Amino acid sequence: MSERTLVLIKPDGVRRGLIGDVIGRIERKGLKIVAMELRTLDAETAKAHYAEHSERPFFGELVEFITGGPLVAMVLEGPRAVEAFRALAGLTDPVKSAPGTIRGDHALEIGENVVHGSDSPESAAREIKIFFPDRF
Ligand code: CMP
Repeated sequence: MSERTLVLIKPDGVRRGLIGDVIGRIERKGLKIVAMELRTLDAETAKAHYAEHSERPFFGELVEFITGGPLVAMVLEGPRAVEAFRALAGLTDPVKSAPGTIRGDHALEIGENVVHGSDSPESAAREIKIFFPDRF
């Protein structure tokens, strides 16, 4: 059964010229890109997206970082798309991520880990509504 997930190429990934690398991995894996947009988030959208982290000490930093430059938001579709993209991305901590994953190959810092992928189908539905309110 097909599933959707929300993926962000975060401002660090865009700034470092990694859009092509990330999209290449997604396409080679066979996940289908069904929506995609380059945009700079306002604080309100960023806070809505990261609402579950609002009590964390790094929340302010997180919002500042994610609004600090253009990002690429996309919706992927495919069998077990949530899990499939998270396997491509690697772990949240890039140092613990295996080489061969996006974060394992490209990042060292937990706060600048190149990509975001929804952590469950329920989160995906919520996040897709924030980024693409009229599309699905
Ligand atoms: P993401 O998958 O986008 O979801 C929440 C983000 O919070 C996570 O990736 C990390 O980039 C970020 N994050 C998690 N822990 C920390 C931390 N200790 N300091 C800064 N950012 C963090």
